[in-house]
Amino acid sequence: MELKTNFSLKALNTFRVEAVADAYLRFDLVDEIVDFLGRDELDSHRRLVLGGGSNLLFVDDFDGIVLHPLLKGIDVIEADRRHIWIRAMAGENWDDLVAHAVTNGWAGIENLSLIPGSVGASVVQNIGAYGVEVKGVIDGVEAISIHNREQVRFSPNDCRFGYRSSNFKNDWAGRFIITAVVFKLSQKPDFVLDYPGVKAAVEAVGPITLDHVRQAIVSIRQSKLPDPDLIGNAGSFFKNPVVDGNALSGLLKLNPDLPYYPQGGEHYKLAAGWLIERCGWKGRHVGKAAVHHQQALVLVNLGGATGREILELSEQVSGAVHERFGIELAREVLVVP
Ligand code: EPU
Repeated sequence: MELKTNFSLKALNTFRVEAVADAYLRFDLVDEIVDFLGRDELDSHRRLVLGGGSNLLFVDDFDGIVLHPLLKGIDVIEADRRHIWIRAMAGENWDDLVAHAVTNGWAGIENLSLIPGSVGASVVQNIGAYGVEVKGVIDGVEAISIHNREQVRFSPNDCRFGYRSSNFKNDWAGRFIITAVVFKLSQKPDFVLDYPGVKAAVEAVGPITLDHVRQAIVSIRQSKLPDPDLIGNAGSFFKNPVVDGNALSGLLKLNPDLPYYPQGGEHYKLAAGWLIERCGWKGRHVGKAAVHHQQALVLVNLGGATGREILELSEQVSGAVHERFGIELAREVLVVP
C-alpha cells in the first residue's frame, strides 16, 4: 500500500481523459483497506472508490483521495449437481471472470462477455447485455463500510438492483468498498438467445455451446462497440429511457418506425441510440469528442478530448433529443466533478 500524490488518472479511466488526483492509494489486500480506513485524516477528504474506470467521466482534476482496490482471486466455494458458487474478488477483470467461467463450463454470464470493467463495478452498475443482467446470478456482495470499517455481506435483495443501477449507486453511494462478489452459476446452461441477432450469430459460429455463445457475443460487440483500448469510451453514455403507454402512442404517431420494448405494467423501453441517430448526431463530433459512428449511444474520445468537452457534447446530444422527442436522457456514466 503506497500513497501517491498528484497522481494522473488518465490510464485508469477508459475515456482516457486527463485528471489529476490529489492523492491515490492502491490496495491489494482487504486488511490494507481496513487499516487505512482507521486513519482519522480520511474523514476530511473527498473520496472516490475506483474500479475498472469504465463507467465514469472525470471533468476536472480530483481534489481528494482515490481509493483503488485491486483485490484478486477467484475461488469455487460450493457446488451441487445444478449450481456452482464462485467467489470473485472485486478487482478481478470482469471479462477474465467470464472467460474463466466459460472455460470451466459454468453458465450464466456468457452473454456478458467483453463488458469492460471490474467484478466490483459489475454489481454497482448491474451490468447487462443481450438479454442478461448480472443481478440474476449474484448470490451475495461482500463490502467494507467506509464509515465504521465493518465487513458486511449483502444479499441480492439488499442491493436493490434495477436497470443499470443498485443501492451502491443510489442510497449507499460513497459508503462501501466492495471487496468480493459471490456468483451462483449453473452447471448446465440455460441459454438466453432471444435478443435480436444473437441466435443467428451463435449458429454462424457452430452448435450452441457456452464457448460459441461467448464467441458470438464478442463478435457482435466488436462489430458495433469501440474498443476502449483503441478509442476512449465508457460504453453507453445514456440509459435507454422508459416511457408509459400514453407517451409511447404520442411518439408513435409522429415516428411510426420507433423501436420499443414492452417492460410490463404499461412501461416501454425506447432505444436511446435510435433517438440520437434520428436527431442527426450519430458520427458527429465537437472538437475531439464524438458520437460513435456505429452506435450513437456511445460517446468517444477521438484523442486528446477533455472530460469537459465530452460532457458538453453529451449535453448537446441530450438537448437535441429533448427538443425533438420531449424525452430526458439520463446518464449511465457517472460524471465526477
Ligand atoms: N439503434 C439505432 N442507432 C444506433 C444505435 C442503436 O437505431 O446508433 C437501434 C438499433 O437498431 C436497435 C436498438 O436501437 O433497434 C437497440 O440497439 P442495440 O441492440 O445496439 O442496443 P442498445 O439498446 O443501444 C443496450 C445496452 C448496451 C448493450 C446492448 C445489448 C443500454 C444503455 N445499453 O444498448 O450496453 O450492450 O443493449 O444488450 O442499456 C452499456 O451499458 O455500456 C452497453 C453497451
